[in-house]
Amino acid sequence: MKTILQNFYNTFLIDIEKCSTPEQVRDIEVKYLGKKSEIHSMLKNIGSIENVKEKKDVGKAINSTKNDIQRIINERKELVERKSIERRILENHIDWSMPVFSSSEGSLHPITIVRREIESIFTGMGFTIVDGPEMETEYYNFEALNIPEFHPARDMQDTFHLVNSMIMRTHTSNCQARSMEYMKPPLRIISPGKCFRYEAVDASHETAFYQIEGLLIDEKITIANLIAVMKLFLSEIFKSDIKVRLRPGYFPFVEPGFELDINCLICGGIGCKTCKNSGWLELLPCGMVHPNVLRYGKIDPEKYNGFAFGLGLTRLVMMKFGIPDIRLLNSGDIRFLKQFK
Ligand code: FA5
Repeated sequence: MKTILQNFYNTFLIDIEKCSTPEQVRDIEVKYLGKKSEIHSMLKNIGSIENVKEKKDVGKAINSTKNDIQRIINERKELVERKSIERRILENHIDWSMPVFSSSEGSLHPITIVRREIESIFTGMGFTIVDGPEMETEYYNFEALNIPEFHPARDMQDTFHLVNSMIMRTHTSNCQARSMEYMKPPLRIISPGKCFRYEAVDASHETAFYQIEGLLIDEKITIANLIAVMKLFLSEIFKSDIKVRLRPGYFPFVEPGFELDINCLICGGIGCKTCKNSGWLELLPCGMVHPNVLRYGKIDPEKYNGFAFGLGLTRLVMMKFGIPDIRLLNSGDIRFLKQFK
């Protein structure tokens, strides 16, 4: 029996030495200590030994071998598990302290670069930056802006209607009514954000584009104040003399209303596909806030008045960087975006 036990133990030592994964160790455990193992049968057979002393000695020897095998299996289990964790760490290792290579460095989107510049110009003039929702009610997008249901002016902005009876805002002007509700005059805000229109896409029209709304309400505000702010803003942002033209424009929420166009900087005003061969690009519609809009905002139009503007931020970015096609800005093309570090 002792020789059988010794041979059993020796074969076990050879087998366990070959194990390099937790699964292999588990198989060896079943083979050498499981219910169908040789040692299990040996233990069962002790009963047939008649000599009491021999019975005791054999039982002791089997149990001691069994304990040795279990101890060696446990040690092996721990060793292969530790090695497997170390292997996985090495395979997926990321060294967070490695310096970033300049070729893989990210950069800001040109719209973000210009938005931040504009925010800095207007905050310098005492304006506060406010945010508004992109998914909006018809009330804030139209009604509170003096555009009642069935008013033809709604046709000027083709709208995405959602199944929850909300809409995607067609302009940042929704922030006018919202700001008036929680800020009382004197107030000066700008509100940058994304707008959505169901439009035919071309070189200067996208279905999702950025605007920056501006609103100033105080006492005794005049068109001269509006023009002064617009001029100051344009000279700061372009840092050079650019030709602008002011012409009457119709928006139900301002009276009088203007279209402020800039001379196309892509073609220098001769005409190209960006300006639809007109030499001019609509950029900054604006006007004096309509008394009805003040009433919707619970502001007394007898005491206060003001101006508002809706800057086409995406178009301004095109003019500033000489980008001839608006579609490049939403393209996500890294070769294009990399140029604006
Ligand atoms: C408006 O959206 C008015 N809410 C602006 C306003 C605000 C007027 C406050 C008066 C007072 P308009 O639809 O013209 O107006 O759009 C404003 C600017 O957004 C345009 O001059 C243009 O620069 C830009 N814009 C309009 N539609 C698109 C489009 N599909 N793609 C890119 N830019 C656009």
